[in-house]
Amino acid sequence: MDILIIGSGGREYSIGYALTKDENVDKVYFAPGNGATNELGENIDIKDFKELANFAKERAIDLTIVGPEDPLVNGIVDVFKEEGLTIFGPSKAAAQLEGSKVFMKNALKKYGVPTAKYIETSSLEEATEFINTMSEPIVVKADGLCAGKGVIIAQSKQEAIEAAKGMLSGESFGDAGNQIIVEEYLDGYELSIFAICDGKDFVVLPAAQDHKRLLDGDEGPNTGGMGAYAPTPLVNDELYKKVEDRVIKPTLKGLEEDGMPFTGVLFIGVMVVKGEPYILEYNVRFGDPECEELMVLLESPASELFLKAATGDLANAEIKFKDKYAVGVVVASKNYPYTSSEPAEIIVDDIVHEVLKDNSYIAYAGVTRDEDGKLLATGGRVLVCVGLGDSIKEARDRAYMLVGQVHFLGKKCRMDIAYQALKD
Ligand code: AMP
Ligand code: GLY
Repeated sequence: MDILIIGSGGREYSIGYALTKDENVDKVYFAPGNGATNELGENIDIKDFKELANFAKERAIDLTIVGPEDPLVNGIVDVFKEEGLTIFGPSKAAAQLEGSKVFMKNALKKYGVPTAKYIETSSLEEATEFINTMSEPIVVKADGLCAGKGVIIAQSKQEAIEAAKGMLSGESFGDAGNQIIVEEYLDGYELSIFAICDGKDFVVLPAAQDHKRLLDGDEGPNTGGMGAYAPTPLVNDELYKKVEDRVIKPTLKGLEEDGMPFTGVLFIGVMVVKGEPYILEYNVRFGDPECEELMVLLESPASELFLKAATGDLANAEIKFKDKYAVGVVVASKNYPYTSSEPAEIIVDDIVHEVLKDNSYIAYAGVTRDEDGKLLATGGRVLVCVGLGDSIKEARDRAYMLVGQVHFLGKKCRMDIAYQALKD
């Protein structure tokens, strides 16, 4: 079968990588892809949803997989479905779970899913009144998409009020801050749980842990994610069961009853407080860099998972995962996440070590090619080195061995990915 992947990051590269290893897949297209995805398939330079759908029809594409949230929130799935095409991802209505934090929090409340106590408001007066009743720290969130930057953890009431003011005035995040959420701070540890959903049924993937801060020891500013690993020993069967029963099932049932059945990846940001899962947020796509690890943990053909989910047939799928661990280390450019960096040529050494070769791969993200075909680091997060192993430590060591084989000017990465799973 032929598959079209929408997106251009390491996440989309890793989905393409898994599909090219799948014997059911003939050809993979990427729209728009990056400077390395064209080694896996063909890059297509089309942005308009209708034109993309026409392309999918003309080429008789069997399945389209949407990577990032933007096209989902903007309704790409609805456009493809109107044309009778098979596409993996939620409708515009269901994608509001990520597109609007107010929608998400209200859905959690309505469906009885545990989450932090909150108010939604567009009034500074109301926000201030609520903040004054709260204990510190206090969390203030802009309603709309802010590329992961719309959440302020305020250490004092004054700081919380300032954050609310900045958002509501439009100064901080423009229209995305017209409405805000003010909520209680949850003190626990964070996990990412991904459920592949077909509207009714779901498959839970091995739980992952991301490292959002730039520097070792979780210091420095927030980023899109500097590395991740899965499965994390921070989740046991009891916690998976709680998340299934209290979170995934009521959410899928509620959305279906509300006329917007959820198909695609339900990315559940969980805070575990005293052994109980609370939902911080939903996203409607894979995490990046979590996807890069999950794709190599899949034992079943990747096309089966995505196609069965897209066609409402997960009940008839038996999706298997390897009994292994994967660790992904993000290699970023010099000025990430502050400003862009000068393009730098990427050199990857030949991997002569057979075990490393068979148990690692590079997911390319912020890369382009120059006119001579040289691979250049041009993005913030340039690539992800993923190692696979029988233990987290083995997978981690392989990931870092691979990092050592990659060279470009200004290359940087965290050295402590998976530390929470490795400390005794
Ligand atoms: P979100 O985009 O809502 O996941 O928020 C971004 C990050 O802020 C999360 O990954 C958490 O680390 C943190 N965060 C969000 N909400 C809370 C909360 N209620 N309590 C503690 N930390 C939070
Ligand atoms: N790695 C977190 C995210 O993709 O949002």
